[in-house]
Amino acid sequence: MHVEGDLDLDQTLYTEEQIVTRLKEMETQIQTDYEGKYLLLVGVLKGAVMVMADLARSLDRHVEMDWMAVSSYGSGTQSSGVVRILKDLDTDLNDRHVLIVEDIIDTGLTLSWLITNLRSRGPASVEIATLLRKPEAQRMDVEVKYVGFDIPNAFVVGYGLDYNERYRNLRCIGTLSPHVYS
Ligand code: PRP
Repeated sequence: MHVEGDLDLDQTLYTEEQIVTRLKEMETQIQTDYEGKYLLLVGVLKGAVMVMADLARSLDRHVEMDWMAVSSYGSGTQSSGVVRILKDLDTDLNDRHVLIVEDIIDTGLTLSWLITNLRSRGPASVEIATLLRKPEAQRMDVEVKYVGFDIPNAFVVGYGLDYNERYRNLRCIGTLSPHVYS
């Protein structure tokens, strides 16, 4: 392993500039859609921290931010869709406009569970914004209002996304070199 994480990348999928540009476009859409509404951003730890930080700061309005941590049980790398709350929100969602902020939707199981859970708490609305979405997620019954990029079914790291807790701090998003696995 190199100390410099980007040397472990096989390919850069999105540069920092491309990510920031796309987030700005998403922010413009969100600004329009939530005109006159007070927004609560809900980040899903840990992957969403970078998206949350950049999206929240690009919004030219007051927002609140809260966080959830969830863990999905499954065999190996396959998620079972059974989700456990490790850290719940501090905020009462009653009558709130909630926007869930995610780094990636992979199978869609986490978000499909989460949106049902949050909608049961009496909010005015619940929508999802994710920077990345994999094709498989589109087959799940989960409506995602704001998507940064649809990406191929490859293992990606950077900008909040990890492999064994590493690479979250890379400014770009890329695929890992095979030498990292072996
Ligand atoms: C990632 C991501 C989503 C979830 C999506 O989190 O942040 O929460 O997986 O996967 P799914 O669509 O297949 O359910 P992860 O469990 O890797 O935790 P992390 O955010 O702490 O890295």
